[in-house]
Amino acid sequence: KQSSKTIIVSNRLPVRIVKEGEKLAFMPSEGGLATGLGSIYKQGDNIWLGWPGAVLNTKAEEAQTKKELKEQNMAPVFLTEQDIELYYEGFSNETLWPNFHYFNQFSEFNHEYWEAYKAVNQKFADQILKNANPNDTIWIHDYQLLLLPALVRAERPDISIGFFLHIPFPSYESFRLLPWRRELLLGMLGADFLGFHTYDDTRHFLSSVSRLAGIGNEHGHINYNNRQIMADALPMGIDYDKYAEVAAAPETLEREVRYRTSIGSEQLILCIDRLDYSKGIPQRLKAFEKLLERYPEYLEKVSILMVVVPSRDQVGKYKELKEEIDLLVGRINGQYSRLSWTPIHYFYRSFPLHALSAFYRMAHVCLVSPMRDGMNLVCKEFIASKLDKKGALVLSEMAGASKELSDALLINPNNRYQMVEAIREALEMDEKEQMQRMTVMQNTLKRYNIYNWVDLFMNRLSIVKKAQRSLT
Ligand code: UDP
Ligand code: G6P
Repeated sequence: KQSSKTIIVSNRLPVRIVKEGEKLAFMPSEGGLATGLGSIYKQGDNIWLGWPGAVLNTKAEEAQTKKELKEQNMAPVFLTEQDIELYYEGFSNETLWPNFHYFNQFSEFNHEYWEAYKAVNQKFADQILKNANPNDTIWIHDYQLLLLPALVRAERPDISIGFFLHIPFPSYESFRLLPWRRELLLGMLGADFLGFHTYDDTRHFLSSVSRLAGIGNEHGHINYNNRQIMADALPMGIDYDKYAEVAAAPETLEREVRYRTSIGSEQLILCIDRLDYSKGIPQRLKAFEKLLERYPEYLEKVSILMVVVPSRDQVGKYKELKEEIDLLVGRINGQYSRLSWTPIHYFYRSFPLHALSAFYRMAHVCLVSPMRDGMNLVCKEFIASKLDKKGALVLSEMAGASKELSDALLINPNNRYQMVEAIREALEMDEKEQMQRMTVMQNTLKRYNIYNWVDLFMNRLSIVKKAQRSLT
């Protein structure tokens, strides 16, 4: 009997190679997809296929990478410099990313990017086909691989294919601007079950399927080429216990004491994001500047601790954003700093888990204010790390997470006045209310954790497969 395993496929593996001279080092990847699924792929014979995050130059480097990844249940898909430029930076991050996040003025429509996107999706398909047995389940992730479900389906008509989109699916009015909209949808429809973070994303997808491909649905059930497919909302959770445990670890506590000693006693507002225009970083800095102007009693009392994790820094819009943030931070700190107080502690780098956990513990307020975000795991990690339940979350209603976390102070990130007042309300909230809100949010996140999410996803997929079989 052939064994059955799950093959997880995403553009980026949960580890990335950093070249240190001749040597290859493996570091954890940043971003919600990698950190979220990082807890679950090591079971059984499962493997995770994806790009290891660096362009390798020699066969020896490739062989070493393959070997080291194999020991951790992973297998590499190697990308060339040109693949990175046209498929990853190009089509994925200059065409799809802005379009799906409603930044259409940033979208590039370039035929060369599209050709590369097709070719690299095919490269991933070839790798899957090499590794997959008929009983296996293929679980494909995110916008870099929208064509992959249909490419695999073409070769293996009966295999189980799940797809999950980690970013928003835009309204038809945005999606229809893409010249390759129909091909992209038909690519996705190669899957048996398609999961999205929110009900709205699902609805938008189904509406595009109906209007651009002429395929209707009944409550998310689609019949395409005589195959039953289902689409549904399945918000991704975090490994709650892991974050709660790390928050209690001696290394975290030791770091917290150290950081507190250097920063001082002021109230901290924490912001952690990848460098991305979808995260609303300048808008948030301007709101903080307004807060200091309108409520001078916070001078020398409140600071922002802002971590911006370097991301996609070869893409023009990301470079411009970096410069804009540097200027704003410089301007605000230049105007308000005192010898004994810095308004914004700004780091352009990534941190290890125990450091992030210490930041979550130290923060009075976590300010998560994206213009658009598929889910946002940072706010969930903050809540799981608050063992004493003290602290407040200010959360943009444009983040998928806001649908589950209605006990946060919800804001529209375009409304600066509202953001300023919400930060103030969070800073002034009494402990009883902090604890009440935190308790509700913690209970939600404990229950709908990452393990529960994976179970639900796999369950839905097997229900669809069973329904297909009963019809044939
Ligand atoms: N993160 C990280 N290193 C850092 C800062 C953040 O690994 O220095 C992680 C963070 O803990 C979270 C992820 O990056 O799990 C960001 O995920 P989120 O869903 O908030 O946003 P995304 O980056 O996926 O858009
Ligand atoms: C988001 C996307 C992921 C991506 C991550 C980091 O979370 O949904 O697919 O991996 O950002 O971006 P990067 O371009 O560095 O992989």
